[in-house]
Order: sequence, then C-alpha cells, then structure tokens
Amino acid sequence: MKLENRVAIVTGTSPNIGGGIAEALAAEGAAIVAVDAREANARDCANYIVKGNGRALAVTCDVTDEKQVEAAVGAALKEFGRIDILVNNAAFFNKKGVIDMPFDEWNRQTGVILGGAFLFTKHVCKAMIDRKRGGAVINIISTAGHQGEPGNIAYSTSKCGLLNFTRSAAMELVGHGIRVNSLTPTATDPAESFERATRWGRTVKKPEGLDRVMAPFREGIPMKKLPVPSDYGKAAVFLASDDAAMITGTDLRVDAGAIARYWAWDPRAGASV
Ligand SMILES: NC(=O)c1ccc[n+]([C@@H]2O[C@H](COP(=O)([O-])OP(=O)(O)OC[C@H]3O[C@@H](n4cnc5c(N)ncnc54)[C@H](O)[C@@H]3O)[C@@H](O)[C@H]2O)c1
Repeated sequence: MKLENRVAIVTGTSPNIGGGIAEALAAEGAAIVAVDAREANARDCANYIVKGNGRALAVTCDVTDEKQVEAAVGAALKEFGRIDILVNNAAFFNKKGVIDMPFDEWNRQTGVILGGAFLFTKHVCKAMIDRKRGGAVINIISTAGHQGEPGNIAYSTSKCGLLNFTRSAAMELVGHGIRVNSLTPTATDPAESFERATRWGRTVKKPEGLDRVMAPFREGIPMKKLPVPSDYGKAAVFLASDDAAMITGTDLRVDAGAIARYWAWDPRAGASV
C-alpha cells in the first residue's frame, strides 16, 4: 500500500469529492482525519472507514476559525502522533456575480476557500516542520479557477488564488521536504456520491431533473463523460505518495480535457471548429 502508516487530514468530507478522496487515501493505508463544519459529514466519513478496518477520526471544525483549526490539528496529533498529508477541499457554492454579490457573502466564500486552506496549511505545516519528516499538501481547485466563469465571482477568484497559493507555499516549504500541489476537478458525475452516501447509511433521494442539468456538461466535455470522485481520489493518492516525490508546485487536472479544449471548438460539433 502506498500510504501505509501515514496520516491524512481531509477537509470537507461530504459523500461527494472529499469523501471520495478520503476513501481512496484510506484504501492505500492512510489514517484519515475527516474534518467538516457539518458534524454528520465528518462522522459518517470516519465511521465508514473505521467499519472497513481503517483508522479514522471525525473532527467538527469550521475551517475559517483559527482556534478550531488549531484544535483539529491538535486532535489529529493526539490520536495518530503525526500528520503526513493535508487535503484542502472544504468549499461551498454560491453562484453570484460581481454586480449582485453582497460583500459579506464574498468575504465568507473567499474566506472558506482561501482562508480555510491558508489556516490548515499554516498549522499542519508547522507540525510537519517540527517533526522534520516532510509531508504533502494538496489543494482542491476547480476548472472555474482556470477560466473566466460569469456569475461565480467569489468561487472562481478564490480557486484561481489557490493555484498561486499552491506555488508560493510550495516554494516556502520546499526546504522542509513539504510538497504542495493542487488537483483540479471539474463538473462531477453525481452518481457516485449517491452511491457513497448510501454506503455511509444515508437515505438518498436523487433530485428531480438532475440528469437534465448535467447533460450539457457531459456533452460539452472532450471525453464526453464526467469524472467521478474516485478519479480524483486516485490522483490525490499519487500526489500524496512517494511516486510524486519530485513533484511540487504543480497542478494536476483530472478534468476529462475541459481546460485543454480550444475555446472555439465545441465537442458536440465533431472534430473541427
Ligand atoms: N462538485 C463539483 O462538480 C466540483 C467541481 C470542481 C471542483 N469542486 C471542488 O471540490 C471540492 C468538494 O466539492 P463537493 O462537490 O464535494 O462539495 P460538497 O458541498 O459536497 O462538499 C464540501 C464540504 O465542505 C464542507 N464545508 C463547507 N464550508 C466549510 C467550513 N467553513 N468548514 C469546514 N467544512 C466546510 C461542507 O460541509 C461539505 O461537506 C470543493 O473544493 C469544490 O470547490 C467541485
């Protein structure tokens, strides 16, 4: 197993992407500290991993509250004695544009995405530096952080900011053997998150009209199918593991070709523009 005896903190462990990444890291032997502001998301993720004979701890924590972040890092160290991997994944969606977004909502969304990653990186990396054994940080971006999406100003700006946070932190921490990379997901096939939520013991009702909402994403992406959280999980295992020992400050896109697409080419139209 690639992550045997290692300890990973994952923030934002809903049954969607954070849960998928946590399960993938656990399957490679890592102990998981599932951190979420929603107690049920931390608890159900950790419980599922423990039931499968893994090691896991649930911590309820708002990533924007520095005292709670310090307490979460302290709880991880108390339980497992070390932290090797941090996945900054917590975020929330609030699609508003520069004209209609209230300033407090801008502050809250940028605060969770950028501020939360800043606080967890700060306190986890202090512990990694004290231990002198290095570590790996993975920041979860979005294709919206690479492009100018209208009407999603705080989200796409924060995600773009996280790309350079990744590079800057990578340079600052390189001397301590801490690698900092990012992973870019895109519009995600929702089926796996329903399946995961069911495995976690939840009753799930698929929202009506979801297939209709997802259809343009599925049809417009070069691979003509959307990634699932376990695709991101495999990439996170790679970035966290010694297989990526020489990789820092980079972004790994798991986006079915979304960002590479020539802007004027519509995959629905066939091979040419
Ligand atoms: N779903 C997508 O299509 C998609 C696409 C690209 C990128 N992403 C990114 O992937 C990540 C996960 O997305 P998801 O779709 O699984 O979202 P999700 O809403 O299912 O999960 C996000 C989790 O973060 C938690 N969270 C929110 N605010 C928090 C806070 N202040 N403190 C602690 N926890 C908090 C939520 O409770 C939730 O469990 C996010 O970073 C998102 O931007 C998602």
